[in-house]
Amino acid sequence: MATILGIESSCDETSASVCINGKVINNDIATQAIHEQYGGVVPELASREHQRNIVPIVDHVIENAGISLKNVDAIAYTRGPGLLGALLVGSSFAKSLAQVLGIPIIPVHHMKAHVLAHFIDEPKPTFPFICLTISGGHTQLLRVNSHLEMIVLGETIDDAVGEAFDKSAKLLGLPYPGGPIIDQLASNGDPGRFEFAKSEVPNLDYSFSGIKTSILYFLRKEMKQNENFVEDNLNDLAASIQFTLIEMLVKKLKMASAQEGINQIAIAGGVSANFGLRKRLTEEAKKNNWELHVPDFQYCTDNAGMIAISGHFLFEKEQFGQLTDSPLPRMPF
Ligand code: KG4
Ligand code: ZN
Repeated sequence: MATILGIESSCDETSASVCINGKVINNDIATQAIHEQYGGVVPELASREHQRNIVPIVDHVIENAGISLKNVDAIAYTRGPGLLGALLVGSSFAKSLAQVLGIPIIPVHHMKAHVLAHFIDEPKPTFPFICLTISGGHTQLLRVNSHLEMIVLGETIDDAVGEAFDKSAKLLGLPYPGGPIIDQLASNGDPGRFEFAKSEVPNLDYSFSGIKTSILYFLRKEMKQNENFVEDNLNDLAASIQFTLIEMLVKKLKMASAQEGINQIAIAGGVSANFGLRKRLTEEAKKNNWELHVPDFQYCTDNAGMIAISGHFLFEKEQFGQLTDSPLPRMPF
């Protein structure tokens, strides 16, 4: 039993959270709006914003939890994967604070933490379960055997699905991050209106780089006839793009469930906030007799609640880090 302070700074969200005896008490997130105008995350600006946000956000969660720093038993932080400069801010802060307080640090793998977000709220999945982990940087199908044992069944060989959402949105002239905007527009569009080529890859792997090219050529052709084609068909384009991406995700998820003989299915990561995907999976769960686990919205995209709960499980196994650990932008799974 322990009090863990969690810190997340892998990309463009600065977040802190307190977890006491396995219960996540709070989860504060400072989203960096500055990147919107650049059409993507600018690494240097992200680091600067983390630097600005980290002290107030940590102070706030400690105060909000009704504790003082002296009550914290360990500090869990995201070691990777992520942007080097962004990770450096969180990890340096976590290490310095831990050294001052004389407590251990717990390095956490960001993608594993997305999966462990399922252990914040009820109902929690039981082991083993299949988790489709979908974010801006990753797309993985995992077999989760325990809190700390996860096996990669398949993954993307190129772009992540979140990247496919964001790049498609950019082609439609939408701001960054485009995933949530596509989701919103898609709810008023016809998903069967346009068809885009899906790349086929063997086994349980994915490939999302082709769809972007397919959309680009399609738009170029249509815009020769009507230069306002995108504006005139925005909802249907968003719905059709989203439908294609969801089809690809669901196909391999069904294959993974059949291959492993597991009907406990979970989704995690930023793209798991997608309304269309949630709706489709709810239908698939009924059809296939799945027990479906979908995280609360605040725990889908990057957050420190998932880092703090991961810290709780790693603390139990005494999996502590060293002050000499450096951030790992491409941290192996
Ligand atoms: O997990 P996350 O917050 O950060 C990474 O670890 O990458 O995921 C961010 C990704 C972005 O690509 C964003 O566009 C996507 O998640 N995303 C969505 C939705 N909300 C966030 N994609 C589709 N529909 C959404 N509602
Ligand atoms: Zn993430």
